[in-house]
Amino acid sequence: MKIAIHAKKGSFSDRWIQYCESNDIAYKLVDCYSSDIIEKLHSCDALLWHWHHADPKAILFARQLICSIEAMGKKVFPDSKTCWHFDDKVGQKYLLEAINAPLVPSYVFYDKKEALEWVAKIEFPKVFKLRGGAGSANVKLVNSKRYAQKLIKKAFGKGFGQFNRLGYLKERWRKFCIGQDSIWGVLKGFARLAVPTEFAKIAGNEKGYVYFQKFIPNNAYDTRVIVIGDKIFAVRRYCRENDFRASGSGIKGYDPSLFDKRCLEIAWDVSSKLGLQCCSYDFVFDEYNSPLIVEISYGFITGPFYDDCPGYWDRAMEWHHGKFKPQFWIMENILRSIVEDNVVSESEQFKV
Ligand SMILES: Nc1ncnc2c1ncn2[C@@H]1O[C@H](COP(=O)(O)OP(=O)(O)O)[C@@H](O)[C@H]1O
Ligand SMILES: [Mg+2]
Repeated sequence: MKIAIHAKKGSFSDRWIQYCESNDIAYKLVDCYSSDIIEKLHSCDALLWHWHHADPKAILFARQLICSIEAMGKKVFPDSKTCWHFDDKVGQKYLLEAINAPLVPSYVFYDKKEALEWVAKIEFPKVFKLRGGAGSANVKLVNSKRYAQKLIKKAFGKGFGQFNRLGYLKERWRKFCIGQDSIWGVLKGFARLAVPTEFAKIAGNEKGYVYFQKFIPNNAYDTRVIVIGDKIFAVRRYCRENDFRASGSGIKGYDPSLFDKRCLEIAWDVSSKLGLQCCSYDFVFDEYNSPLIVEISYGFITGPFYDDCPGYWDRAMEWHHGKFKPQFWIMENILRSIVEDNVVSESEQFKV
């Protein structure tokens, strides 16, 4: 058995490599961006590649490469079921509606006139989002018809930059003020006003659609639940001061008593129905105290944010106290699925 890993410092691959080294698992490092990647994978059983939503090169071909590797009969992380909707809130809307998952009511329009007609008859506030983005960067509260109309005109006009430059600077400043960023971070924020990211340059402006969600008020935090195989863990993320947005705030809570078991159940249910290898779910609670999903994602940051989780639940909802590395679970699940496939194919040979 041999595992191919695309290595990138700071991504899941650091720990995948660590796992292989400490458990004597044969692995080779591959470059997913090289033209001969398929040939390089012939000698391997699986590929693991933690690609980032704002990697300008990965978004050009990651999904296509993954489908092709699946066609070779190899295992891959993330697989196509897990990642086709990654960083795509529009795709997630259809997917979650299709399985009757409790998604915050979400609305998408591909026609300016239709969007303006809808806006004329709805109540405010609503939440406007681009289909992509993280850390709340592309999420806005829309308090008035006028503002909604302005956003619609922009969506069907010049569009929105993929990278919110002013938002980025404000966020750097906010984090600096609460001791989570350095002055260099703030200066970087200033520099980004003039120099767009590679991702923004390659991806171009977002336009031709507009996406809104019902605003679910009075949530001082969101609940992020991550399911990997038969294990689940959670982080409560508190909103920024005077803001409805929690994602990216950096203010968090981990005590298991903070988490509503219904969020865990919904996350299990969706992950098993959709066959997701790894998925995070962001929940808010409506006026009836029912949990609603705002978005899902296969990727999350590595490092202290999740490493500080004091434990996890298993499928029987038993709490297991103690630190863990979720990236190890991903590797273990891939290894297990390779072994299971081999057992099946051996028993099929035996039948013949
Ligand atoms: N419809 C909504 N109603 C109330 N709060 C929301 C809604 N959608 C998002 N939020 C808040 O905004 C944050 C960012 O939204 P999210 O869709 O998760 O975007 P991102 O991809 O940037 O994390 C969430 O963490 C949540 O706190
Ligand atoms: Mg989110």
